[in-house]
This record gives sequence, structure tokens and C-alpha cells, in this order.
Amino acid sequence: MRMLPMLFLLLLGASMMDAAAYKGQKAYKMRCKVCHDSGNKMALVHTKKEWEKLFAQKGETLAHHHVHSPKVEMMLEKFHAQGVALKITPEKVDAYFENRTGGESYESSVRHLRDFFLEYARDSDSVPACN
Ligand code: HEC
Repeated sequence: MRMLPMLFLLLLGASMMDAAAYKGQKAYKMRCKVCHDSGNKMALVHTKKEWEKLFAQKGETLAHHHVHSPKVEMMLEKFHAQGVALKITPEKVDAYFENRTGGESYESSVRHLRDFFLEYARDSDSVPACN
């Protein structure tokens, strides 16, 4: 009979983790997908350990890849030249990664993004649904 509460907690834990990863996927679609490919493909680029490093200190390393990045500017210029209409600008990317935006800020979703990438990392057991 003692097994039952344990089992319940285990199930609760599992579903809570899924919810966090799901939130991370949503944030990815909203904030990252324009420039990167599908989140599930991106997750596979790194191992769990590598993702943990990128997301250490509230995602500081990941932010460094984007803030004032000439590569980000070049990418957006290319989109622009291709006639892709985007509301996103290098300034907005900086503002997001430096937590100068309100609401769904980088700071508020970084934990979820981390969970998402760890869940689907190259060396994880989870197989992502196609998307
Ligand atoms: C405006 C376009 C743009 C947006 C938006 C963007 N990225 Fe990037 N990202 C880039 C570019 C360009 C690089 C390459 C920078 C470099 O290598 O110096 C990069 C680099 C990265 C890297 C490091 C590459 C690696 O594999 O080591 C990761 C991880 C990453 N981005 C994830 C994200 C996530 C997560 C988000 C959303 C929270 C995001 N990016 C939003 C353009 C973007």
C-alpha cells in the first residue's frame, strides 16, 4: 500500500517535467524558430551536458551567442534581402537576451527552454514527435 503514494509522486514528477519541456518548446517557437530550424532538430545538435553549459547561469552563455552578434545581424540582413518580412531586429534580439523585454522574457522562459533541450538532447532517451 505504501507503493501507491510513491507511484503517484513519480507520475506527478514525470508529467510536471513534460509540462516544463512543453513550455520550452512553445517559447522556442515564439522566440527562436525564425532563425533556427525546428527545435527538435536543434536539440539533437548537443548532448545534455553541452546544453547544461549553454544554459548555465540563467542562460548567460546562450545569451552571449546572440547579444551584439555580427552573425545575428548578418542573418537578419539576409532575410531582409530575401524579402522576408520580419518584425525582428538586432536591437530586439539584444533586448530579449538582455531581459529588457517585459512579459515572456528570456529570463522567464530560460528554465523551460533548458528543460526542452535537455529532454530531447542527442543523448536523451526521448524521441520527439515529428514537427
Ligand atoms: C535573430 C536570429 C536568432 C534568434 C531569434 C535566435 N538565434 Fe540562436 N543564433 C543565431 C545566430 C546567428 C547564431 C550563431 C552565433 C555564433 O555562432 O556566434 C546563434 C547561435 C545559437 C546557439 C549556439 C550554437 C551552438 O550550437 O553552439 C544556440 C544553442 C542558439 N542560438 C539557440 C537559440 C535559442 C534557444 C533561441 C531562442 C531563445 C535563439 N537561438 C534565438 C541567431 C538567432
